[in-house]
Amino acid sequence: MRRLRVDLGERGYDIVIGRGLIADAGSYFTCRGNKALIVSDANVAPIYADRVRDSLIGKGLDVRTFVIPAGEKSKCMEELRRIYSEALAFNMTRSDAIVALGGGVVGDLSGFAAATYMRGIDFIQIPTSLLAQVDSSVGGKVGIDLPEGKNLVGAFHQPRAVIIDPDTLDTLSDDYFADGMGEVIKYGCITDAELFDKLERMGGRSGFRECAEEIIARCCDIKRDIVERDEKESGCRKLLNFGHTYGHALEKVSSYSAYSHGQAVAIGMAYITRLSERDGYTERGVADKIERLSAMYNLPISCVADGEEIVKAIASDKKGAADGVDAVFVRKIGDSFTMRVPFDYFKAEGGK
Ligand code: GLY
Repeated sequence: MRRLRVDLGERGYDIVIGRGLIADAGSYFTCRGNKALIVSDANVAPIYADRVRDSLIGKGLDVRTFVIPAGEKSKCMEELRRIYSEALAFNMTRSDAIVALGGGVVGDLSGFAAATYMRGIDFIQIPTSLLAQVDSSVGGKVGIDLPEGKNLVGAFHQPRAVIIDPDTLDTLSDDYFADGMGEVIKYGCITDAELFDKLERMGGRSGFRECAEEIIARCCDIKRDIVERDEKESGCRKLLNFGHTYGHALEKVSSYSAYSHGQAVAIGMAYITRLSERDGYTERGVADKIERLSAMYNLPISCVADGEEIVKAIASDKKGAADGVDAVFVRKIGDSFTMRVPFDYFKAEGGK
């Protein structure tokens, strides 16, 4: 088992990573009150919720499980309201805790419920998708979508603990696994050439499985370091958005149906690196390396999208400024920086 400490003063917490941990989840956090509401989704709950519940009951907690429909559509006001109602029906007080058991949707939604219920209660993340294990469960970004766009309402609310069991990845489909790999590759690109090389050597999903604990811990450690230095994303946390400016826009213009988040990020990383090589910000050959690694993990590297639509989507994103957007570039693998570019930097079709 590996343990990392996210040092944010009194909001600091441990990330624990180890095979089989889920059955012993109750040993890795303490609850000030005596109630825990497990929030999970209809795919994950049947496989893991009983194990987590039994472990929490074993620690003396009174436990209820609340199941939401699987999928991004659940990151909405209606499901949030249902969680509040469940917490009230369970007589939860400010000392009690919400336990998020699932992928990014479950973590973001139930984290936002925890951030706002009775002005904020504790929450624990037990991420079961690769994307959630290496990214969304760490760093405290929680929120919901609105009909107008994704993640438009949210908060920074750090969990009390993050409990990661790499064995849960065994039940992920290849598509969900690839989705998370987009973020894993991103970490290699922005700060860690050794991680990037290791991903190349692992060669694909089965190689990853052998080293899952180590790779997840490495990604969480990179995120830990960045979040400790810039919790609210006014500086270096923006580096985590490598590939995301184009990627978010692509997800939006394709109505969140044609590409998963990880696929869109992979396309976005290839896109901006092609342009930045052309413009001399990036060493020659880096775009090829990123594309080869993405392809190795079944991620796409180009798309057909209308450049004007992409530019419009980027200009309306909450992360944009009036005169452009702070885009993330890599000089070479493991070395990244941000630079403000005009919106129409992203107009080239497919980045080629
Ligand atoms: N997913 C990027 C961040 O947490 O900042």
